[in-house]
Amino acid sequence: MYEKLTSGTIRQDFPILSRQVYGKPLIYFDNAATTQKPSQVIEAISKYYYEDNANVHRGVHYLSQQATTAFEGVRKQIAAFINARSSCELIFTKGTTDSINLVASSFGRMLTEGDEIVISAIEHHANIVPWQMLCEEKKTRLRIIPVFDNGELDIEAYNGLLNQRTRIVAITHVSNTLGTVNPIKEIIATAHTKGIPVLVDGAQGLSHMRVDVQDLDCDFYCFSGHKIYAPMGIGGLYGKEELLNRMPPYQGGGEMIDQVTFEKTTYNELPYKFEAGTPNVADVMGFGAAISYIDNLGMENIAKWESELLQYATSALKRTGDIRIVGEAKHKASIVSFLIHGIHPYDAGTILDHLGIAMRTGNHCTQPIMERFGIPGTMRVSFSFYNTKAEIDELILGIDQVKKMFR
Ligand code: ALA
Repeated sequence: MYEKLTSGTIRQDFPILSRQVYGKPLIYFDNAATTQKPSQVIEAISKYYYEDNANVHRGVHYLSQQATTAFEGVRKQIAAFINARSSCELIFTKGTTDSINLVASSFGRMLTEGDEIVISAIEHHANIVPWQMLCEEKKTRLRIIPVFDNGELDIEAYNGLLNQRTRIVAITHVSNTLGTVNPIKEIIATAHTKGIPVLVDGAQGLSHMRVDVQDLDCDFYCFSGHKIYAPMGIGGLYGKEELLNRMPPYQGGGEMIDQVTFEKTTYNELPYKFEAGTPNVADVMGFGAAISYIDNLGMENIAKWESELLQYATSALKRTGDIRIVGEAKHKASIVSFLIHGIHPYDAGTILDHLGIAMRTGNHCTQPIMERFGIPGTMRVSFSFYNTKAEIDELILGIDQVKKMFR
């Protein structure tokens, strides 16, 4: 399998990778924003609508039962993929943002004035704003783990932030901007010595490395399908059963109930208590196909090739000169943010786009990181296993062209 990555033959599974933009072959380096989908995923979604469409958990008829079995089968598959103890610990959501909001709304209801929530200086807005909204509502306080210049968190400062009032730590696994892989196992263990639960924003974690929620011992792990080759609009929240059982439901409707009368409603068991309304069944089918695809490829192979691409790109960027890499943590996923000296990232990004190179420019939904590093934004390339070294060579040639145009 590894040879399929090094040779680039894996790209045949991704129809979009053979298209052109502005008459140039597409070089897709925006995988942290969303990954492309293999044919297997696209086909699973269309098969569902062509042949199998029915609502789940609601009918005795053949199609409904078949859809329910397939839907619950994917829940088991994803629970096994992250090594959850039980599939009832996996709630389907719209994605990472939705999962974090679920926890902030439901777990957050149990917080009281003066309680504290610890997050870090390198969170995506999705792991800042839901907690800030909770702070406004409950008069709780947000505490921030600072970041060093190299993009690593100040763990000593983190230890000092935990106290009797800390109710939850919410931390990203991998920074979507800096690429930093946080030492979450250590962060979780420290919080647990004080009985504090930890939520991990796994949006950029799950697609790059093997995630074992029991080994990490995290209390919540939030993720998006579309970052791991599955469709947009589907994601997951892993939560420890005991904790989820204690939390109140946060949305009311069909499916999440046990008995409804006008006097009182009782709620369904896990995971349905948190899944009000008709779920996104077709995209769950796509999610299942994506996980099968990844399992077949092997997460170890993916991690190895992406790490090679990261090293290759980092060295090449440094060799070209006039480049500032923002975020040089020792442990990084295949995400590189950088600036070309004296050239605004939007200008450079626009020129590179016309050369067929898709990357993200701007603040990457992490405005506090931009403020911390005193920059307007960055250019960001984020690699998937289907990227090649030849594509990185094209990026370097493109950057040379940008530099010539502005000098
Ligand atoms: N969070 C996504 C990114 O980093 C959208 O681009």
